[in-house]
Amino acid sequence: MTRKSRHKGRSHISKRPFVVATFAMTVDGKVTTKNLAPVDFTSREDKLHLFRQRALADAVLLGHTSLKRDNVRLGLPVDLQQARTKRKQTPAPLRVIVSNKGRIDSRLKVFQSTISPILIFSTTRMPRKTQAALKGKATLHLTKGDEIDLAAMLRTLRSKYNVRKLACEGGPTLFRALLERDLIDELSLTIAPYMFGGAKAPTLTGLSEEFLPTSVHCSLIDMRTIGDECFLAYRIKHRRRRN
Ligand SMILES: NC(=O)c1ccc[n+]([C@@H]2O[C@H](COP(=O)([O-])OP(=O)(O)OC[C@H]3O[C@@H](n4cnc5c(N)ncnc54)[C@H](OP(=O)(O)O)[C@@H]3O)[C@@H](O)[C@H]2O)c1
Repeated sequence: MTRKSRHKGRSHISKRPFVVATFAMTVDGKVTTKNLAPVDFTSREDKLHLFRQRALADAVLLGHTSLKRDNVRLGLPVDLQQARTKRKQTPAPLRVIVSNKGRIDSRLKVFQSTISPILIFSTTRMPRKTQAALKGKATLHLTKGDEIDLAAMLRTLRSKYNVRKLACEGGPTLFRALLERDLIDELSLTIAPYMFGGAKAPTLTGLSEEFLPTSVHCSLIDMRTIGDECFLAYRIKHRRRRN
């Protein structure tokens, strides 16, 4: 499939970035275990796949729980940084964190790496002490209200930071919130050869017992197998013309 045909019909989303979510899930649909402890259930190839997806984006997005639990830096290996520089991009994508409550620990590893600027989208519920601790480490976008407006955040990323492609790395709560608002364009999904079971272990769309507002139709655009893992790419069919 050509690049042009894959991005066909993009005009309706030109006010926000193209959003590609990347997840790994077990054969029984779990993305982690019930206590959300960091769990390593994918191959080296899948980890490289995640880095490559990240390297293709202008920004990488992560929910606060995944950031806390996995304590990731959201950086890139040197070879992928060099490839970006050759493409006249910054060495690494902008790092974007979302949190409604804003109780973000400034000692997390992400703040110890200066590989790329960090943006935090949160609300004015963020404690003043936290705001002060994050000063100089991240740019804060705080809005009034209990929750941030994800569509507005995407528009800001596009208009203010020129983010054309956004790599969403989860977790499932954030992914579901974006999916419910019709804000996901592509899903890159690795099926790893394990089954976890457990009603309290989140699936790709989290733990909610509720159905999605409408079922989401996916169109398979790529499929590869490497060893026992299957790498799938889906285009998400949009419900509305404009979001
Ligand atoms: N297998 C995989 O590919 C994969 C990928 C990613 C993550 N994970 C796993 O998933 C687990 C965490 O997932 P999770 O679903 O619990 O958490 P998550 O989606 O990473 O983060 C949820 C938190 O992000 C913020 N958030 C979510 N939606 C938001 C919205 N609409 N507006 C503003 N803020 C929002 C809130 O932070 P506040 O509470 O601060 O308000 C919320 O509590 C971890 O165990 C991680 O390892 C697995």
